[in-house]
Amino acid sequence: MNTFYITTPIYYVNAPPHIGHVYTTVVADTLARYRRMRGDETFFLTGTDEHGLKIERVAAAEGIEPIALADRIVAAYDALWPRIGVEPNDRVRTTEPRHKLAVHEMIRRMIAKDDLYKGEYEGWYNPTAEAFVADSQVKDGIDTETGDAVERVREASWFFRLSAYQEPLLEWYRSHPESVQPVGRKNEVISFVEGGLNDLSVSRASVSWGVPWPEDADHVVYVWLDALTNYLTALGFGSEETALYDRFWGGEGERLHLVGKDILRFHAVYWPAFLLSAGLPLPTTVYAHGWWLKDESKMSKSVGNVVRPDHLIEEFGADSLRYFLLRQMVFGQDASFSDEGFVDRFNSDLANDLGNTVSRLVTLSRRGFDGKTPPPASPGPLAELAATVAEEYRRAMDEFAFQTALRSLWRLLAETNQYIVAGAPWKLIKSPDTLSQAGEVLWNGLEAVRVVAVGLLPVMPTVAAQVLAAIGVGEPPTSLDGLRWGALPGGAEMAESSPIFPRIDKKGYLASIAAEAEPPAAAEAEKADDGSIDIEQFMATQLRVATVRTAEAIPKSKKLLKLTVELGDEVRTVVAGIATQYQPEDLVGRQVVIVANLKPAKLMGVRSQGMVLAASVDGAPILLRPDGEVPSGTRVR
Ligand code: MSP
Repeated sequence: MNTFYITTPIYYVNAPPHIGHVYTTVVADTLARYRRMRGDETFFLTGTDEHGLKIERVAAAEGIEPIALADRIVAAYDALWPRIGVEPNDRVRTTEPRHKLAVHEMIRRMIAKDDLYKGEYEGWYNPTAEAFVADSQVKDGIDTETGDAVERVREASWFFRLSAYQEPLLEWYRSHPESVQPVGRKNEVISFVEGGLNDLSVSRASVSWGVPWPEDADHVVYVWLDALTNYLTALGFGSEETALYDRFWGGEGERLHLVGKDILRFHAVYWPAFLLSAGLPLPTTVYAHGWWLKDESKMSKSVGNVVRPDHLIEEFGADSLRYFLLRQMVFGQDASFSDEGFVDRFNSDLANDLGNTVSRLVTLSRRGFDGKTPPPASPGPLAELAATVAEEYRRAMDEFAFQTALRSLWRLLAETNQYIVAGAPWKLIKSPDTLSQAGEVLWNGLEAVRVVAVGLLPVMPTVAAQVLAAIGVGEPPTSLDGLRWGALPGGAEMAESSPIFPRIDKKGYLASIAAEAEPPAAAEAEKADDGSIDIEQFMATQLRVATVRTAEAIPKSKKLLKLTVELGDEVRTVVAGIATQYQPEDLVGRQVVIVANLKPAKLMGVRSQGMVLAASVDGAPILLRPDGEVPSGTRVR
């Protein structure tokens, strides 16, 4: 069985995760899931980079110990991964004892090879990138490659004979076309190495937060030698237990490092040189992806333009974010994030193309076939396309062309829609004479959707499984064989489906985030002395008429009811504190007024996307309702 080892960079613990960090990890998770379906034995690693000057300084500025900072940020990462469906096999921390063993083993091997010597480093250091910077790359105290400020350093240091590896590295790039990708970036790496390599300082005497240098207590290991070794730590390198190492690093299988383009040099030059020195196998591929940009520049904490994932997950669901990240960026190139772009893609691809197609097919099949899938039909015109799409999808996923893979699945969805429109099964199910014809159209449509959902499993694990369940496939397939035409069972129960992706009211959503972004102090300043507000301030609150579709008590709560309400073509859940006054069954079908742009909040474990308005009479809520029936979603002002 082929083995597949896939890693993300380990993230610095100076700040909580943003979507740049989420991106690489979601790509890795998607690939891990895909490779498992392909039949490869897969190990997926992520982790945190916790040592070095940057972390030491951020902790000092907060007045806390570096480990306290690391623990806090690691907790944020640990909480994030399950929320976004990321399931690594291990998460390594560079402050763990097992990591020190691995780093010391690397150094022991480098010493044995006579590749380390003591000297003095005099030159520039970029603490943001944790990089030693050549004089030629510094202008007016700035690292011209990254734009970061640099500092002058003069201290005793251990050096690694990087210069000795210029030829072996060039030979590696030459003889292994897949070693560094994409090819444009590989060429940059090659020119850099051809330009000549200086020996590299690999210890710091003026930093104390790091792995101690073996037998030289004045030094800590340079944070990049420390960090890169994490890829071996997790496999047990340097410890007694090396089964994973033997399987995933020592053997014939694939070893893939995913990295951002800013850290390619560390992975494609230093890391293989360290490994060559230590006499260890090299990665099969280092793949550098581009950056997520916001407002034209790289997202970064110092620029203050970072997009954090929490709000997007909360609002749209983890799988929508996963889909967006993989669909929007051409792997290897830069891409821009915008809220508008996100909503557009959500509404068109997920709510419309995927969600509507599924719900239409499920509704019609349930109606025509007694709540079940129609009997299996002979393959119609979609079958051939599905085979082509499955082929394209596999090729694209094998080449890390996620966008192409998804576009291909969407081509099948678009054709499926046209096929349904042409077949008009809603007419055919009306008469017993044409019911079997309706069944053919519906079965073929559902089968095409099944193929799409199987392809989506690595990208949107939860939603794809939901789609499969909705169309009568009990257990999601675990192998890519599931892409083959014909597996949809006939006569399988189909549960009544609720919309998987309720459409987002784009205007309302964009206005609500704009309102959130506005500093509250400004609104405060405009308030008149008597507390009155002006019309703009009132209009910032979006009141809308909503129609209650379902209502139920919330277990263990005396006051709260959970309502699903319809707002135009959107359905939302709201929690209302009205249980003392209203019975759930009396509310269904009734119209209420809600604050539609209130920040979502969790009440008794239920996420409420709005607030129902009621007059409060001695603490008892009396609901507001329009004087006559109005279209749901109508604005109140
Ligand atoms: N700790 C080092 C990596 C050590 S790996 C042995 C590091 N950490 S980082 O937290 O600064 O960045 C981790 C990864 O996130 C890098 O691959 C970086 O390229 C990526 N990203 C950070 N900002 C990004 C974007 N705006 N867009 C895409 N990826 C970006 O570097």
